[in-house]
Amino acid sequence: MTQDELKKQVAQAALHYLKNVPIIGMGTGSTVTHLINLLADCDFKRDIEGAVSSSAKTTEHLQSIGIRVIDLNQSGDLDIYVDGADEVTPHKKMLKGGGGALTREKIIAGASKKFVCIVDESKCVDVMGKFPLPVEVLPLSRSFVARQLAKLGGQPELRMNKDTGASYITDNGCEILDVHNLSILDPIELEKTINNIPGVITNGLFAIRDADVVLVGKGSEVIT
Ligand code: 5RP
Repeated sequence: MTQDELKKQVAQAALHYLKNVPIIGMGTGSTVTHLINLLADCDFKRDIEGAVSSSAKTTEHLQSIGIRVIDLNQSGDLDIYVDGADEVTPHKKMLKGGGGALTREKIIAGASKKFVCIVDESKCVDVMGKFPLPVEVLPLSRSFVARQLAKLGGQPELRMNKDTGASYITDNGCEILDVHNLSILDPIELEKTINNIPGVITNGLFAIRDADVVLVGKGSEVIT
C-alpha cells in the first residue's frame, strides 16, 4: 500500500471513535482529510451536532460536508480530538505542525478528554527530531528566537510560502521556524524550554499533553 492508502486505512479505523460524540475535535493534515471524506458518507454524521476545528482548511472541509463548526469558547471541553502527527514515539509523544496548525491543535488537544492520533507506519520513531520541529513565533521575535534555538543545538529555518515566495503565515498571523537536527531525548523538558523563550507562541512537541490512543496504519492491519 502507498503512504496515502495507509493514511486512508487508519482514518477508516478512527471513524468509530466519532460515533455517539455530539461535538468532535478535528485536526489538520492529509490523514484528517481522509477522515473527513469518510465521515461525509457515514450514517452517524447526522448525529454530530458540531465540530471544533484546528485550522481554516479543516473548517472549510467540515462545512463542505455539512458539519457545523463551532468555537472552542462555546463548546467547552471535548470528549474526542482526532489528529495526525509527523512523528510519534512508543510513549505516545508526538511531533506535529508540518501542516502549520500546531497552536490551535495543541489548544484543542488540551481541551479534549481523549486524543486519538492517526498515523501511517512511517511516522513511528523511537527518538523524535528527524522531522524538523515547527516553532510558531511572533514575527517580530523571529531572529531572537532563532538564536535561542541555535543555542539548543538546532538549525532553525524560516518556513516559506512556496506560492508567494514570502514567509509562511499561520492562521494566527504568525511565522514558523522549522528546527532541524534536534535529537529530542527528553521531549517534555524541551517542550517546556522552547515554550519559555519570549516570542514563541508554541512548539510542535506534544509531550506534556500526549496522545491517549495511537492508531497506526500498517497495511495488513491497524494497530493500537
Ligand atoms: C498539521 C499537523 C499534522 O497532523 C501533521 O503534519 C501530519 O500531517 P499528515 O496527516 O498530512 O501526514 O500537525 O499541523
